[in-house]
Amino acid sequence: MHAPDELGTTSRLIHLGMVIFGISAWLTGELAEVEEGSRFGYDLHSWLGIGLTVFILLRIITGLIGPANVRFSQWVPLTRERLGQVVDDTRALLILRLPDRPLHYGLSGLVQFLGLLVFTLMALTGSILFVMLEPETEAEGLLHLVEELHETGELLIPLYLAIHVGAVVLHALAGRHKWRRMFFIKG
Ligand code: HEM
Ligand code: HEM
Repeated sequence: MHAPDELGTTSRLIHLGMVIFGISAWLTGELAEVEEGSRFGYDLHSWLGIGLTVFILLRIITGLIGPANVRFSQWVPLTRERLGQVVDDTRALLILRLPDRPLHYGLSGLVQFLGLLVFTLMALTGSILFVMLEPETEAEGLLHLVEELHETGELLIPLYLAIHVGAVVLHALAGRHKWRRMFFIKG
């Protein structure tokens, strides 16, 4: 069993998969159409998106039945005590103090959970579009709503990444190099 703030190899591999496929699916979103008969952009974005969907599914499965330190029931800030920590961390930030808590605790746990929700929304809506919408055709009715929801990723993903990666950078500047272990770098 790992200490609460120490992720095992499987969890770190899943995170790496989300990083690689999540960022590349985001960067190729604008190319996701058939242009002058070429399906290249559409196929590229769709396959990267399917890669992301696989890793999101793995993270959801480990969140439901995986080791205690990654299981949602153990960390998602939905209890009074965990919400209290989120409030404390927000107050600390407002007076320019950087909270230092174990993985998943306090405000960072809330941000990580919201990030997973946003990526899950992208995976779900993207997969529905991939299966149900012929490229080059107009989406109508419910499928149009799915398409609109999918396009919110263009704003939500960079917003999440700015906060999540921004926090990692701030911790590194404060001498806490949390990213090294997360990306399999020793020390
Ligand atoms: C990181 C998350 C993602 C972002 C930011 C993103 C962004 C976008 C954007 C902006 C478009 C619209 C392109 C346009 O109409 O000009 C799009 C289309 C599309 N995306 Fe994603 N996407 C993401 C993940 C996924 C995933 C996980 C899949 C799953 C296979 C996927 C499948 C598709 C498909 C099939 C289309 C074409 C829909 C159509 O023909 O209108 N995307 N994506
Ligand atoms: C692209 C999409 C990303 C998603 C969906 C994501 C999601 C998460 C989640 C859910 C956690 C908590 C651990 C877990 O429950 O698995 C986490 C932790 C972490 N992530 Fe990401 N992440 C992403 C990108 C990144 C990037 C680009 C970096 C690079 C700086 C990064 C660095 C970290 C670090 C260092 C931690 C550990 C934080 C700590 O020890 O408190 N993540 N991430």
